[in-house]
Amino acid sequence: MSNFLDEVHNGLSGKVKKLNPKWLYDFNGSKLFEEITKLQEYYVTRTEIGILEKNKSEIANLIGEKATVIEPGAGESKKISIFLKSLIEPKCYVPSDISKKYIKKIGKKLKKKLPKIKVNPVVDDFTSKKRINNKILKNKNIVVFFPGSTIGNFEKREAIHFLKNIKLKYKPKKIIIGVDLIKKKSVLLKAYNDKKGITARFNKNLLKRINKELKANFDIKSFKHSAIYNKSKSRIEMHLISLKNQKVKVHNKNFHFKKGETIHTESSHKYSPKSFNQLAKKSGWKVKKIWTDLNRQFSIQYLI
Ligand code: AVI
Repeated sequence: MSNFLDEVHNGLSGKVKKLNPKWLYDFNGSKLFEEITKLQEYYVTRTEIGILEKNKSEIANLIGEKATVIEPGAGESKKISIFLKSLIEPKCYVPSDISKKYIKKIGKKLKKKLPKIKVNPVVDDFTSKKRINNKILKNKNIVVFFPGSTIGNFEKREAIHFLKNIKLKYKPKKIIIGVDLIKKKSVLLKAYNDKKGITARFNKNLLKRINKELKANFDIKSFKHSAIYNKSKSRIEMHLISLKNQKVKVHNKNFHFKKGETIHTESSHKYSPKSFNQLAKKSGWKVKKIWTDLNRQFSIQYLI
């Protein structure tokens, strides 16, 4: 956990305060994100599921038989269930996540849902270079399934690094990836500022987590959730705005916040088919096929 402490210390020490969005996903954060995916305003999940349902046979034919499916940062089970059920004799499903508690639960849930498929959960940080169990990597037909537009949560250079890294880390021949598309600003703002305030809780949970795990004393009430659209970077940015001048202690270090100062907690990049094509190319992958919904809000892309 010292890694977490170092990153928080570094992130809060810069001129612009920033934390890596991967820390949003402790057990509670993952649960809150699951709630977000069910929100009316959050078009992402249901749109992607619709695309997957509609095109699953075509996707399955492209993947071919006896595939080992690796899902970095596995979350809810609906999409993967649709995907695995449609595949021709899939060999094994490997969900991975940094939260041990969460990934165990995901593994169990899937085993119940799809008893015929071998499930092999691994605790792993998908941004790390570390290889996973060699036995898994022996299969010739390894597919990385990366839905949800999690790729959008990386900075562009990180996204390129990730796509290059998974090639070495998991040895996949194919990737099925969900990529959120550029769309009307009003739709985006609603999706990240939901009326029930679940996204706000998800964002603030990061401070709760830091308090709990790193002996910090953030006063959660004196920070406000904010999600804005940065047009020049085609991304939604989540911030936590300090509502007053304040001092916060994280473990043994003090950090000062001015009223109105923010912690940038997450970016969610939106792509056009063209801009994602360029990104894939820079990462050593080729976009072979894109499926979208009728309104072109979201895309599932097949990379080889
Ligand atoms: C996981 N990820 C793709 C979500 C997104 O839309 O960027 C995380 C999220 N943040 C706020 N709402 C949802």
